[in-house]
Parts: sequence; C-alpha cells; structure tokens
Amino acid sequence: MKIAVLKEPAGETRCAAIPETVKKFIALGADVAIEAGAGEAASIPDSDFEAAGAKLGSRADALKGAGVILAVNGPDPATLQGAEQGAVLVGALDPLKQRAAIDGYAVAGIEALAMEWMPRITRAQSMDILSSQSNLAGYKAVVEAADAYGRAFPMMMTAAGTISPAKVFVMGVGVAGLQAIATAKRLGAQVSATDVRSATKEQIQSLGAKPIFVENVAGIEGEGAGGYATEMSEEYQKAQAELVSGHIAKQDIVITTALIPGRPAPRLISDAQIATMRPGSVIVDLAAEAGGNVEGTRAGEQVVQHGVMIIGASNLARSLAADASALFARNLFNFLSAFWDKEQRRPVLPDDDEIVKAIRLTMGGKVVNERLSAA
Ligand code: NAI
Repeated sequence: MKIAVLKEPAGETRCAAIPETVKKFIALGADVAIEAGAGEAASIPDSDFEAAGAKLGSRADALKGAGVILAVNGPDPATLQGAEQGAVLVGALDPLKQRAAIDGYAVAGIEALAMEWMPRITRAQSMDILSSQSNLAGYKAVVEAADAYGRAFPMMMTAAGTISPAKVFVMGVGVAGLQAIATAKRLGAQVSATDVRSATKEQIQSLGAKPIFVENVAGIEGEGAGGYATEMSEEYQKAQAELVSGHIAKQDIVITTALIPGRPAPRLISDAQIATMRPGSVIVDLAAEAGGNVEGTRAGEQVVQHGVMIIGASNLARSLAADASALFARNLFNFLSAFWDKEQRRPVLPDDDEIVKAIRLTMGGKVVNERLSAA
C-alpha cells in the first residue's frame, strides 16, 4: 500500500512524516510518496526523505494510488483531486471549526480521521498529538517569557550585587503546564502553580514547585471525563479569584494554559489583577486561541497593559518545527502501525474499536462521527 505525505500550506512549519517514520512504514511493507518540499520548513531536505526510501514528486504524483494520506492540518478538499476512493486521511483536521472541509472529504469518498479526537486511554498515549504538541508549547512559552522579560530568571550572586530569581506562576497544570513548570525550574526561577484538578498538587510538588490551591470550597474536584477539567462552581471561581489576586501581584511571569474541552477557556486573570503586577512582568496565555485565560489577550499578538506584556501564544509548537514534526510523525506512525494488518500490508480499522470510533469522521461518502452529527 502507498502512503502519501502532503506539503503543508504557508504558515505551517511542521511535516507529518520524518525520515525515521518513512523507514518504519517501508519496513511494514508500505511505499511512501512525499510531496516535494514537504519537510523544508522543518529542516528536512527532500534528499533525506529520498535516502530513507521515499519517492518525491508533485501532490498529484503522491496522491495517485495512495491508500493513506498524512497531513498536519486538514487540506482543502479541492487540493485532493486524484485521491483514491476510500483513501484514509490522517491529521489534525480541526473537525468543529473546519466542518465544510470535513463534508468535502465525505463527498470525495475519503475516510477522514481526526487525530486530536484520540481518546485519553493508556493504549492511545503514544498516538496523542495534543499531548506531544502541548508539551513543546509549554516549554516554548517559558522561553518566550524569558526572552520578553527584562530581567534574568536565575538568582545570580555577582561582585556587583545579587540578582533575585524570577517568580513564575503556572495556571493550569496539564501537559503544557507541567512542562512549563519543569522548564522554568531548569532556568532557575521560583515556581508556583495551580489547577482545578486536585491530582495535580502532587505533580507540582514532585517538580519542586509550590502548589497554590483553593481549599475548603464545595465542588473542589475539577476532574471530569478523560482526565479533563470541568467548569467550576461560582463559589469556587470566587475563591480562586481571591487566592490568585493575592499571589499574582507578587509574580514576575505568569503562564496560563487552562482549557475546558468544548467550552471557551476559563477567564483566570482580570485587567484589575494585571494592574497589580510589577511593570516589566510578562504573561504568556497559551489558551489565547480558545478565547484566552487573560483579559485583553489577542491570539498571535503581544499587547502591553499596565506595563505588563501579554503574549497571546498561538500554536507555539510550530516554532519548534523539527521536534514538533518528529513527535507528530511518530504519533501518526504509532497509530497506523497499531492497526497494521501484516498480510494485507495496510491498516485495518475495525468499526467497533474505541479509538476508531472516536476519531473517524467520514466513511463511505458520509459524515459518521457522533460528535459531528450532534453539532
Ligand atoms: P487541557 O489542555 O485540557 O487543560 C490544561 C489544564 O488546565 C488542565 O490541567 C486543566 O485541569 C486546567 N484547568 C482547566 N480549568 C482551569 C481553571 N479554571 N483553573 C486552573 N486550571 C484549570 O489538559 P491536558 O494538558 O490536555 O491534560 C489534562 C489531563 O489529561 C492530564 O492529567 C494529563 O495527564 C491527562 N492526559 C492523559 C492522556 C492519556 O491517558 N492518553 C493523554 C494526555 C493527557
């Protein structure tokens, strides 16, 4: 079976394959065809893909006869002309926002699989693109904050006097938040963190950071299905705002990562709270694209309010294109190889499999995913 790898549109730096995954697919008995230039922005020259055993060519060449199409972002269906009926498209298809494209895949007879809807089960951990990309985003958020901050992160004792360590506060301790804590610690900052899921308290402590948690309020356990957060009670939100207000005024850097699936990002920092921070402080809002955790955030922009810089982070994994591609490509390989049928030399996706049910959007000319039929 042939696997096609698409070149992403301008603005996307990542690639859905790397030479390592090309070799592994070939070892499974597949042929790999890559659209020329697909790896360029991730520092993978065409010649590296060729050396790994792939064929390079135009998109039409790559698509011809391909049973699987790999992409980072969902391609415009109009650019998939010539794809085979029943070809499986695998990528971050953004189903809720790109509904028209999903309908287009159905019409084109393509079986679209949205990797961001991978269920959070142990078996699927190595296939989880949200985790692999969030981890890099958490790291990069701290690096961006350090870059924008006009002071140093670590304590330095010099002949000219002592520089005190930066105080970093991480709000939302999921995959990105944990990596942000670890990165800020490595840079020598004094780190504290908060979350609504009480299970994160121990994780924060194990990284050597200080947990800041609301205590003695009803509805405190914020963990819902699949390990995600739930929306908190009004009482909790009020207690959280008070606790955070006192703490934020003493912080130099705040990294916010709080998300609730299917809802706008919770508002964690108000303009009035920003006004209490020292001028020159930096806030990086990783939830900017979901509406932002911080009042005044603009996705993809930097704004200054009350002397505090607010960085509305937008897809930070893209700025680490080589590593982000490697992890993304391995997520795709881990998924396809788990369903690989050795005799047929292609993936076989059973209708009743939990993973397949969660991520399959279209099949046989129809939109088949429950989450889309409900939308
Ligand atoms: P996420 O990106 O949905 O949210 C980020 C963090 O924000 C979460 O920790 C959430 O609890 C927190 N948050 C939400 N509302 C908040 C509020 N009002 N105040 C403070 N914090 C708030 O979460 P992410 O990073 O995707 O992971 C969540 C959990 O899922 C983690 O425990 C992670 O270990 C688990 N997970 C499990 C996987 C698996 O088993 N395959 C794969 C990936 C993650």
